Amino acid sequence: MRKPSSVNESSAARDSDSARESDSTNDSGPAHDSESDVPSPAPISRRKALARGAGLLAAGALFPHGVLSGAMRSSPAAQGAGAGARAVAGGEAASGSGSASMPGAREILTRVIPSSGERIPAVGMGTWQTFDVGDDESEREPLREVLRIFVERGGSAVDASPMYGSSEEVLGDLAAELGIQDDLWWATKVWTEGAAEGIEQMEESMGLLRRPRIELMQVHNLVDTETHLATLQEWKDAGRIDYIGITRSQTAAFPEVERWMDDERLDFIQINYSMAEREAEERLLPKAIDVGLAVMLNRPLGGGALFGAVQGRELPQWAAEFDCAAWSQFFLKYVLGHPAVTCAIPATSNPDHMRQNMGAGYGRLPEDPALRQRMIEYLEG
Ligand SMILES: NC(=O)c1ccc[n+]([C@@H]2O[C@H](COP(=O)([O-])OP(=O)(O)OC[C@H]3O[C@@H](n4cnc5c(N)ncnc54)[C@H](OP(=O)(O)O)[C@@H]3O)[C@@H](O)[C@H]2O)c1
Repeated sequence: MRKPSSVNESSAARDSDSARESDSTNDSGPAHDSESDVPSPAPISRRKALARGAGLLAAGALFPHGVLSGAMRSSPAAQGAGAGARAVAGGEAASGSGSASMPGAREILTRVIPSSGERIPAVGMGTWQTFDVGDDESEREPLREVLRIFVERGGSAVDASPMYGSSEEVLGDLAAELGIQDDLWWATKVWTEGAAEGIEQMEESMGLLRRPRIELMQVHNLVDTETHLATLQEWKDAGRIDYIGITRSQTAAFPEVERWMDDERLDFIQINYSMAEREAEERLLPKAIDVGLAVMLNRPLGGGALFGAVQGRELPQWAAEFDCAAWSQFFLKYVLGHPAVTCAIPATSNPDHMRQNMGAGYGRLPEDPALRQRMIEYLEG
């Protein structure tokens, strides 16, 4: 049995809303509900300029809810840079979202981080519950294989948190044992109140992960956000982290996330978006494109609940149109088909599931609005 040391979660009830990581942390810290807490953005930000220059999107990609702003759609810079970014990715990209995603393409789909132009693989890995196994070798063994397959299949972005019990330690240990530390793109979080407490917690996380510096540090569930953002900006300036993010995983918290999205210090938001929870399509995903923020997706499989919804049902034959061979790929390719999405981080403790999930990072994506609608209707039908 998994040691239930992460905060408040019951692994037995994983699929139910009551077991959600998000719910356990809602009351953990002061909410920012005043817009006056959020600094106003400069008229044209460095982040936006970089986003346009790096070519987050090729012009002309059309999605529901008008996710491309007029500026992005018509900008010659966006058009030219988009083409350049695809060339860097191997010259085979067919999609409008900067993907190396021709059928049979051997390179995993990558996406651009708007604030830097760096590309990361679009399929990452979460660790909530799955990596919280303590030092029991029989439980670590399949996770070692999960991590090995993840990297073997082109993955690199891993997401942890001090909230996830022993997950940071297990992830750090297994990566070191496999000798893949430098192949990973590391993300973790700060989840406490107070500047000194935050620094202490982040130092401890980096010790457990065995990294003197990591790529992305996120304010978990917007706990004491202003305090930690000040520290994180200092850490970024000092080269200890590359990127700053915030996370939430509840649709009810989207207005709060949206207010923070104008903060110039942010590079990433991490939010819940899946075929089971599509509300991010309405405001957050279009806004992420507008302001040049990278988007990491938690709960991309609806916390696992989506598999229950299709139990006993066959994949539709037309799923082959976007190189989809398993339900997990159907779910993941749907979210990756949105142009605002930088990286989805499904979690699994099962090596076979990891193989399936990584398959979502190859081949074509469902980017056509009619096809995406058909997917929703099939799921709900
Ligand atoms: N506020 C926050 O910052 C926040 C909140 C929530 C989540 N997160 C992050 O996001 C990550 C992902 O979210 P999540 O773990 O809640 O949910 P998720 O990735 O949507 O779903 C995970 C569940 O799906 C199952 N699964 C995975 N691949 C499968 C496959 N191919 N076939 C069948 N079942 C499969 C897993 O079980 P098996 O182990 O059996 O495969 C697990 O029960 C977390 O691990 C965490 O890193 C962050």
